[in-house]
Amino acid sequence: MSVEQIKTVAVVGAGLMGHGIAQVFAQAGFKVLLNDVNKTILDNALSAIEADLKRFTQYELLSESEAKAALSNISPVLDLKEAGGCADFVVEAVTENVDVKRSVFSTLDQSAPPHTILASNTSGIPITLLAAATKRPDKVVGTHFWNPPTLLQAVEIVRGEKTSDATILTAKALLEKVGKKPVIVNRDVPGQIGIRILYAIIREATSLVEKGVATPEDIDTVIKETLGTRFPVLGVFDLVDLSGVNILHAVSKIVYKDLDNSTEPHNIVKQMVERNELGVKTGKGFYDWSKRSASEVMRLRDEYLMKILRERQSR
Ligand SMILES: NC(=O)c1ccc[n+]([C@@H]2O[C@H](COP(=O)([O-])OP(=O)(O)OC[C@H]3O[C@@H](n4cnc5c(N)ncnc54)[C@H](O)[C@@H]3O)[C@@H](O)[C@H]2O)c1
Repeated sequence: MSVEQIKTVAVVGAGLMGHGIAQVFAQAGFKVLLNDVNKTILDNALSAIEADLKRFTQYELLSESEAKAALSNISPVLDLKEAGGCADFVVEAVTENVDVKRSVFSTLDQSAPPHTILASNTSGIPITLLAAATKRPDKVVGTHFWNPPTLLQAVEIVRGEKTSDATILTAKALLEKVGKKPVIVNRDVPGQIGIRILYAIIREATSLVEKGVATPEDIDTVIKETLGTRFPVLGVFDLVDLSGVNILHAVSKIVYKDLDNSTEPHNIVKQMVERNELGVKTGKGFYDWSKRSASEVMRLRDEYLMKILRERQSR
């Protein structure tokens, strides 16, 4: 199926990721069928989308009429079979549970037209395992959006063992059409690209805290004020080539053997979980959230990302 044939997209799961993914397709003019298990979740998702579209207009990323049109492109659908039955492309964004996802894929496979591509937003479940719940493994693919999906541009397209080249090409063309920057993950490795790199950073950062080398706050300052500031323009291989592969070679010889290589969660993390110090949701994690506002942190994040998006659009 070519991308031109895709008119209707179903998004299954209207939670944190699903509602944002639905908005991405709706803003690009696709008819979107948004599915979840009950009406309250769907109502909340639509309210969240409406509020987010309003912010897009405030940041002049959309006109009022474009925001209105985007919202009208989304139809809440309670019946999964009905959502799948009318869709040319489906993005599954339900809870990260292999049994739940496999059941959704099996139902979608039975209800969706033969040409329909079934994509999953899973962060870690092998695409091959989800594809095996269907009779169309060649048309099952990973499309890993990042949070918030409306503001972060890269989407990892993950090839399962049986995903066809045609499916990869159509998914890529579709994501480009909605303004994303798709990248291809050629092997179905756990954590794809971004999560693997993020967890390599988190593993080393946690180890530095555990060894008492630095505080979480100071480590975050280094991330935000050095690496993070440069990353929008310089990826890791840009950096390496600018400084020289010989420098990479020399520093690797000194640093690699001292880097953390834990294969299990760190003891401090195990202890925090035992003490129910889970972060924002219990008021304490690496930071004391009684002294910080999570909603303010998220507001700053979205404001920053909106500014970047506006700057890029005006270039
Ligand atoms: N949260 C993130 O930052 C993030 C980032 C990238 C990818 N992901 C992945 O995206 C997926 C969704 O994550 P989320 O954070 O949006 O979760 P979430 O818990 O916010 O939303 C999941 C939604 O799926 C719905 N659901 C569960 N079973 C269903 C079913 N059978 N049919 C229809 N809907 C069903 C739930 O009611 C819920 O609304 C997961 O696979 C997750 O790993 C999450």
